[in-house]
Amino acid sequence: MKRKSDALSALADRVRFFEEIGAGFLFRSEEPRPEAGAAGETIVAGSPRPAARPAESGLDLPRVDRTLDDVSAEIRACRKCSLAAGRTKAVPGEGNPKSPLMFVGEGPGHDEDVQGRPFVGRAGQLLTKIIAAMGYERSEVFIANVVKCRPPENRVPHREEAEACAPFLIEQISILRPRVIVALGKTAVDFFVPNVKAMGAVRGVFQEWHGLPVMPTFHPSYLVRNEGNREIKRMVWNDMQKVMAFLGGK
Ligand code: URA
Repeated sequence: MKRKSDALSALADRVRFFEEIGAGFLFRSEEPRPEAGAAGETIVAGSPRPAARPAESGLDLPRVDRTLDDVSAEIRACRKCSLAAGRTKAVPGEGNPKSPLMFVGEGPGHDEDVQGRPFVGRAGQLLTKIIAAMGYERSEVFIANVVKCRPPENRVPHREEAEACAPFLIEQISILRPRVIVALGKTAVDFFVPNVKAMGAVRGVFQEWHGLPVMPTFHPSYLVRNEGNREIKRMVWNDMQKVMAFLGGK
């Protein structure tokens, strides 16, 4: 009985979230899903310029003769920067190695460090809901971070740490070859786009990294910290609609 009520309250929670971000149409048959193409051209408040739908140009990075498991094993053994000393578990990333859609965050927090899995804490639960609102199971996409070990007190990774870890993320992307990447928050944006002063300058506007479209959006922990702010949720949802429009459905 308890199992059933847990499942019902999880479903209610999910519906509530979809309504809040403006994705309630997923549960209402009378409101159509946004048109692919139209959503890709939406201009959102705060966006500096229209988000044109990017060309499908393909990844301009060499093919790598290794697997994601090879990279994960190397990450788990890595001691290239001081973050290694403080970790419980390294967090290489996880998901579908054939996914067209990849999410990149900043770095593991406490829960991720304990479990060795990305985005499993509060921000992760929110990311999982966003992924569900986009029509995907979490296991259908690939989720990784800029740094693979937890920075002390969840501070922003230092430049040397991000640089030491960068070859891992580059190799993961070279192996995965997704069609689109969602950069979650400023640290991820800094990895893909040079010299960005603030999220507002690029959020919601497709950027290009080695021929690959990258959509910068707010980090889920920013949404958690601003829980009552529907506008921020709607901005993120607007960004995700552009990604969905680009992918053109599953
Ligand atoms: N925040 C991140 O950036 N990554 C995680 O894996 C968890 C929280």
